[in-house]
Amino acid sequence: FHCISTRMHNCLFNSLQQLEQELAGRLLLLTDSSQEQQSELNLKAPTSFQLRIGVARDWPDARAVWSVWSLLVWVNIDEHLRLVSMREDANVAEAFQCICISLQKLEKYYRGLRHPFIWKQQLGWVTSSPANVGTGLRISVLIKLQHLPTHKHLKDVLKRLRINMDKTDSPELYNISNMATFGFTEVALTQLVVDGVKLLTIMEKRLEGNLSIDELVPAQK
Ligand SMILES: *[C@@H]1O[C@H](CO)[C@@H](O)[C@H](O)[C@H]1NC(C)=O
Ligand SMILES: *[C@@H]1O[C@H](CO)[C@@H](O)[C@H](O)[C@H]1NC(C)=O
Repeated sequence: FHCISTRMHNCLFNSLQQLEQELAGRLLLLTDSSQEQQSELNLKAPTSFQLRIGVARDWPDARAVWSVWSLLVWVNIDEHLRLVSMREDANVAEAFQCICISLQKLEKYYRGLRHPFIWKQQLGWVTSSPANVGTGLRISVLIKLQHLPTHKHLKDVLKRLRINMDKTDSPELYNISNMATFGFTEVALTQLVVDGVKLLTIMEKRLEGNLSIDELVPAQK
């Protein structure tokens, strides 16, 4: 959900300040940031689409990025809050834990300020983008693949594993992520991606050795 009212704005900054005292983080207000800092964070000016749907109202007012170690909290960019934990290694569980703990802390502060996160039976966590319906959780892993991307069974494999495989800027580097954010718990969605990446890696190794992957094509999850 995006909410740019002053009350919400203060609420958020109070929360982040409390979190800041607990963990030494850095809060960067978009209005105070340089072009350099913005490009470092890959922050782009709103698109015409974002302007049309109202997500970019009063830009760059009340927008911020808060960072501590491997955690980034995007404030009022596309959602009111978006937490991102990034790692160089393959420890997805650690990244997941970082998000859970930080969210719980933030939620506690929000609750204290009487602005709890909103959860609805039919929508899950209420977000501004319908693409994030349900848990709103995206897990993505970048892996190198050479043979699998052109394999005839690829589409089937991805569909059955319920994962996406997107190209990135570098050739042979693919972005594996969960297809949907709903229908599974956060833990199960994370496991889905971890298991998917494991199987894709095994398949890639077999193809490298000119072996068939037919017997590895999974049943629908
Ligand atoms: C990987 O895909 C996810 C989900 O679509 C996206 O949020 C993320 O920015 C992508 N990462 C890269 C490096 O392309
Ligand atoms: C797999 O097949 C290719 C083309 O036939 C060949 O060049 C390559 O050496 C083979 N690799 C292995 C590990 O057998």
